[in-house]
Amino acid sequence: MELGVNFIDTADSYGPYVSEELIAEALAPYPAGLVIGTKGGWERVGPGQWVHNASPKHLQEAVEGSLKRLRLHQIDLFQLHIPDPAVSFDASMETLARLREQGKIRHLGLSNVTLEHVERARKIVPIVSVQNRYSFADREWDFLLNHCEQQGIAFIPWAPLGQNRQGNEVLERAAKELEWTPLQVALAWLLRRSSAMLPIPGTSSAAHAEENIRAAGLKLPDAWFKELSEVNPLPASLR
Ligand SMILES: NC(=O)c1ccc[n+]([C@@H]2O[C@H](COP(=O)([O-])OP(=O)(O)OC[C@H]3O[C@@H](n4cnc5c(N)ncnc54)[C@H](OP(=O)(O)O)[C@@H]3O)[C@@H](O)[C@H]2O)c1
Repeated sequence: MELGVNFIDTADSYGPYVSEELIAEALAPYPAGLVIGTKGGWERVGPGQWVHNASPKHLQEAVEGSLKRLRLHQIDLFQLHIPDPAVSFDASMETLARLREQGKIRHLGLSNVTLEHVERARKIVPIVSVQNRYSFADREWDFLLNHCEQQGIAFIPWAPLGQNRQGNEVLERAAKELEWTPLQVALAWLLRRSSAMLPIPGTSSAAHAEENIRAAGLKLPDAWFKELSEVNPLPASLR
């Protein structure tokens, strides 16, 4: 918070439950203006074991559980973590829409979705955000990001740093010239890429958090933005 962070992304499955409990333990009662986005519908039943569960019954329980753990009366942003292939997508969204009408959720978001999911969900309830994997090195969801920007929906790239650490020649050159780190250049590129972009770099280190947040104040020069945008981040074998 002291660094100016006003948005935290979490999920019931992180831990499971531990991340939400720690956020409440550290920050409740929450400062004004802080937005906590959580997610449900994808359970973690053991290390590395993820189980789809976006049934109406489970989503209702998930929202109640997150409210309790986060010590909130209303969740600012509740995101469907991933569509459940064994449950009607409309049924999941109708349940979340009902919980929103009841005031338990303020805004609804989606994660790990296609453009078709976004448009289908919006026929049922307003959607304020989409969270898919995206970074300088991974632009698979470029077209969905563009769609979100056009529609006034926030795009929350997960793993915004993840793959950049492998190093990229242009990123390294830009970092050297600008006297930033390559990860800061990657974050600055994301922020210039779209006005809809809301990066959520993850870290377990205070020093890394400070370094990453500083990147929000760095303005990527036009020439570097252009050159970095033209990089094809795919490995040669996949182009
Ligand atoms: N919706 C989904 O399905 C989904 C999936 C995955 C993640 N997420 C969300 O997205 C957030 C970010 O994703 P992520 O954590 O997987 O990937 P990430 O933010 O791209 O990368 C995190 C990794 O980068 C390292 N790192 C961070 N800052 C660094 C720095 N300045 N220098 C060097 N290394 C640095 C971290 O290690 P250190 O701890 O050592 O800093 C950690 O290993 C998560 O916290 C979560 O909220 C969502």
